[in-house]
Amino acid sequence: MIFRSGPKHSKAVEAKAVEEAAHHLHAVGAPGHGVRHAAIIMDGNGRWAAKRGVPRFVGHKQGVEAVRTTVRAARDLGLEALTLYAFSSENWKRPEDEVTDLMGLLRHFIRSDVEEFVANNVRLKIIGNYRVLAPDLVDMIEDVARRTAHNTGTTLAIALNYGAQDEMVRAARALARSAASGDIDPDSIETAHIDAALDTADLPPLDLLIRTSGEQRLSNFLLWQAAYAELYFTDILWPDFDGAALKAALDAFAARERRFGGR
Ligand code: FPP
Repeated sequence: MIFRSGPKHSKAVEAKAVEEAAHHLHAVGAPGHGVRHAAIIMDGNGRWAAKRGVPRFVGHKQGVEAVRTTVRAARDLGLEALTLYAFSSENWKRPEDEVTDLMGLLRHFIRSDVEEFVANNVRLKIIGNYRVLAPDLVDMIEDVARRTAHNTGTTLAIALNYGAQDEMVRAARALARSAASGDIDPDSIETAHIDAALDTADLPPLDLLIRTSGEQRLSNFLLWQAAYAELYFTDILWPDFDGAALKAALDAFAARERRFGGR
């Protein structure tokens, strides 16, 4: 509860409560409800399919529809960046035909939606070690990233063959190379250097991390970037996620008080 009355509470406490309430109201009226960058662990495609007695592929296909709907909603809600965990570095352990299905859906999604990105000022970016994917997919991704690089609306960052620990290893190696070549003094390395060496270097700080389907784990996603992110877990299975669900997450964010270690 924000407002408390009674003799025990000083004017200063009341003033702080008023300021906080105003901040929350401001956040609700602000673009993205105060969220510049949201990320989503899209989970539950398999359970969505199992509940309907249809093949897993159908769940993943419906998951792509949820991606489309959510990207449009993110744009309409004024998010600067939306990062989606589409394929983790651990997802290679899935059966080969499921991996092939996921890659096929991704290929189809990028090919069919590129014109919509261009028309709507959406910038596509990939995070993760995507260069090891099939050469035609790598070419397509790089072509779309190039075509949309100067778009100034929402950035859609898709995590492909992504693992946060792998991302940090790659960043550590890049910094070590700079140190070995004398471009950087190891003792001058600050958090900002690590930020800049990560795949997300050109994205705003992560404000909100959402996971669907009721699981409450980070699963090696954006571990560094989530340091001060608000976490939001919903029971909605990913194929059922939509603009209203995104808005509910942003509303929950706007109602929270972020302290960044202060008080
Ligand atoms: C989790 O469901 C979801 C994934 C492993 C992949 C998410 C991929 C998509 C939504 C489709 C492709 C993405 C884009 C960006 C076009 P799960 O299979 O782990 O579900 P379960 O836990 O219920 O089995």
